[in-house]
Order: sequence, then structure tokens, then C-alpha cells
Amino acid sequence: MTGTGKGYGKTILLGEHFVVYGLEGIPCAFKQITTAEVKKVPGEKGYTLIDNRPATPGYKEEKTGEYTALISRVLEYMQVKDKLQITLSGDLYAASGVGASASCAVAVARAINDEYKLGWDDAKINKAAYEGETAGSGTPSGIDNTAATYGGFLLFKKNLTGGENKIEVLNMKQPVEIVLGNSGKTALTKEVVGDVKKIKEADPKKMEKIFAEYEKVEYEAVKAIKDYDLKKLGKLMDDNHKLLQEITVSCKELDEMVAAAKSAGAFGAKLTGTGRGGMMIALTPGKDLQEKVAQAIKAKGYAVTKTLVG
Ligand code: MEV
Repeated sequence: MTGTGKGYGKTILLGEHFVVYGLEGIPCAFKQITTAEVKKVPGEKGYTLIDNRPATPGYKEEKTGEYTALISRVLEYMQVKDKLQITLSGDLYAASGVGASASCAVAVARAINDEYKLGWDDAKINKAAYEGETAGSGTPSGIDNTAATYGGFLLFKKNLTGGENKIEVLNMKQPVEIVLGNSGKTALTKEVVGDVKKIKEADPKKMEKIFAEYEKVEYEAVKAIKDYDLKKLGKLMDDNHKLLQEITVSCKELDEMVAAAKSAGAFGAKLTGTGRGGMMIALTPGKDLQEKVAQAIKAKGYAVTKTLVG
């Protein structure tokens, strides 16, 4: 028997890093997914991994430790007593910034659920994936695994006192085109989140001011999504990128792609996910604008993905 499962890739429209501190964020899943197949093999507990996912060069090597911890924890959490062969594939390009590890955690949890006929619902799969993410990357907010589990456009707020997180579906009137630019650099979420924590501890007042500015941006963005005001949403993404620059999580490559996207007419552009590498996202309504922005980013030497969110 082979159990199968899938997890969505995600982008963060607004709020990476701020969500770690209990502020609201807006993740959205796109159609690219990671799939997992699990089958029992002879041996004692544990697993062997065949990773067929397309990936940024060096990504899999740099993330080996993170993935080993992640998969082992999911197996432990789901009380798997057999040895499994796990095969990862799918059309989600594994890179920093697209929730690749979270979509893997969700896909593996769903495949185990399928193989052992556990009957777990989305909420339980999401918890198993969160456990995996915690083992793999320290103190994640849960935004990535939530987007990878549920898909769609969401409002996410971490409950800092340990209760249920706020997860609300945000309905977009119509899906919208985006471009993702890949810096080609892999960043470790744990490290970058740790650095932001140090900045906050060194100057709490400054961080409080940035948080307050971000909250205004996010409040307006939820309204813009509900009103389908994409010009305004784009401007708010630009504002969010500036705040992320202030907390030092952008980098030369991301800023270069953001500038190229804006010059080509993107409604808004920002880094997405961990930062210091990984991906940026540009809001590009319509196929023509999407193509123009994709070409502008490519011309700077970066790989791009064109997709739809909403
Ligand atoms: C990573 O995709 C998002 C971060 O905010 C970390 C997290 O929320 O766990 C940087």
C-alpha cells in the first residue's frame, strides 16, 4: 500500500516576521504543491527519503538538517511505528520563501493519514505539520503550515498564549496574477527570525513603532482585499517591504528584484517569507503586466514563477 498526500506552496502577501509577535498576517496559497508518497519498508522505525522536488541549487543540501528534524517529528507526532520510504515530488519549486518545508510537512502528514487510515481532519493535519515546522525551524508562527494545509487566501494571527490561532478565510472577488522572483539564495528561517528577535531586544521602542506602522498597513490591506482595490493593495505591499528593510531582513538581490518589478509597472512588490534570500512577490494584475514584470526580473538574472492567487 502507498499513502499519498499534498501540501500547498504559499506566499505571504503581508506580515512575515511580524506574525511571530502576534500581529495579523495574510498568507495565500498558490496552485503549485508538494506531494508525498509513503510506503512501509522492512526495518525499525524511521524513514528513508527520495526527494524528487525541483529545487534551487544548494537548497536541499543546506536544509538537510531542517528536513530531517521536521520529518522525524511528524512521524513521532503521528506515532508511526514502522519504517517508511517517503518520496517527495510535485510542481512546487523548493526554495526559501514559498513555504516549501511547510508544504512538505503537510504532504507527509496527509500521506501518513492516508496510509494508516487515521481519519484526521485539516485542523489535526495542521497541528502535525506545525510540530514538524517547530522541530525544523525553531519557533515558527504557524503561518506557513496553515497556508499549506488550507490553501486559499487567509487572515492569520498567532495566539501568543498558546490557544487556537485565528484563521479566517479572506475571499478575493477574483484571482490575481503575481510574479515570484527567486534570489537563488537560501536563508535559514531560524537564524533570520533569531536576528529579528535580537533587534527587538536591543531597541524595543523602535520595534514597537515599526509594529504600529505595520498594523496600520495590514488593516488597510484587509480592506483593499475585500474591496478588490489592487492599486491600494500594491502600495501597501510596498510599505510592508520598507518595514521589512528596517528590520534588516531584505538583501541586495531582493531589493534589486523589487525595484525591477516596480519599474516595469508592478502594482506592488516586496520580499516574501523569511527574507535575506528566498523570494520576492510582485502584484501584477493581468497576463500582460505579469509577463512584462517577469521579463524585467529575468533580465536582472533571476528565475521567476508566474502564478495566480486568490
Ligand atoms: C516564514 O515563511 C515566515 C516567518 O514569519 C516565520 C514564521 O512566521 O514562522 C519569517
